Amino acid sequence: MTYRTLEWLDDGILRLLDQRELPARTVYLDYTDAAGVAEAIREMVVRGAPAIGATAAYGLALAAVHSDATDPDGLRAALQAAAEVLRRSRPTAVNLFGAIDRVLARAADPALASVESLRAAVLDEAHRIAEEDIATNRQIGLNALPLVPDRATIIHHCNTGALATVDYGTALGIIRTAHEHGKQVYVLVDETRPRLQGARLTSWELKNLGIPHRVIADGASGHYMRTQHVDLCVVGCDRVAANGDTANKIGTYNLAVVAHENGVPFYIAAPTTTIDLSTRSGDEIEIEERPAREMTHIDGVQITPDGVEVGNPAFDVTPARYITAIITERGVVYPPFEENLRKLLAK
Ligand code: MRU
Repeated sequence: MTYRTLEWLDDGILRLLDQRELPARTVYLDYTDAAGVAEAIREMVVRGAPAIGATAAYGLALAAVHSDATDPDGLRAALQAAAEVLRRSRPTAVNLFGAIDRVLARAADPALASVESLRAAVLDEAHRIAEEDIATNRQIGLNALPLVPDRATIIHHCNTGALATVDYGTALGIIRTAHEHGKQVYVLVDETRPRLQGARLTSWELKNLGIPHRVIADGASGHYMRTQHVDLCVVGCDRVAANGDTANKIGTYNLAVVAHENGVPFYIAAPTTTIDLSTRSGDEIEIEERPAREMTHIDGVQITPDGVEVGNPAFDVTPARYITAIITERGVVYPPFEENLRKLLAK
């Protein structure tokens, strides 16, 4: 089964696979402006840190291609305005801001002296971000191979596969690479309340890939680690701070603490685009609070009493001390993270 999380069409359209509809229906939505793309990110038509970054880059490409600016300065102003809208879509994944800054930096090149050359450069940069993401993910999978034993039982949280990236995936890419290299892997898939990215998306991807797995309630992971042999946990991330503290889907922190308690290695799969040395620790990472309806309703059906108070943080921060290693496309980083992340990015 083939599907594209995001795809640029030559007539100036960004096509997104509507992840809210999966696995029941495969629906693609077309976008022609940055405001629509920002809304798609906010509403989680597209989600997952690397996919959000690439989508935002294409959002700027849409702004460039469809702008009626007649001179480069006018087009640069339109790009800045589109960037502001895109930046307000979701706050936690640093890939969003990194991709936007990267496209704007390319657009600032004074050698781009015509509207046409500027448009072409912006689109080219978006394509590069998308292509690099795929290569990065494959390399993360290869770098992780020695850490995944044969016949491994692995706990995975949220969705970090092709759907969360341009293609292939990060943490799920590690599982996929191990499987493609002939290792027998069995995945315990956290369902991932409240949006059920694990139950709906990860299990769909694993089923398509023919990788054996079992969907479990988020709260069941401790039970499996205590009563059965679990070899490792591997999750993705939305932002890794300079000290190694890592923001990821809500529930990751609980999983990491229970893994630590049970002596199970806990790995973060992180493209270097997700490492943010300007954020010193997890305390500085903005945690997105999402609408109460995600908690009070499932598939449109209310499951709580009327008017109940709800807390719905989309992410949490796992302190670095619970993380065994951070697996990047440039190599595997072990503690002390402060020092070793800096060395990795300086490479
Ligand atoms: O709210 P989501 O679905 O965008 O959250 C996604 C995650 O937390 C992923 O683990 C993270 O973005 C890494 S995806 C490769």
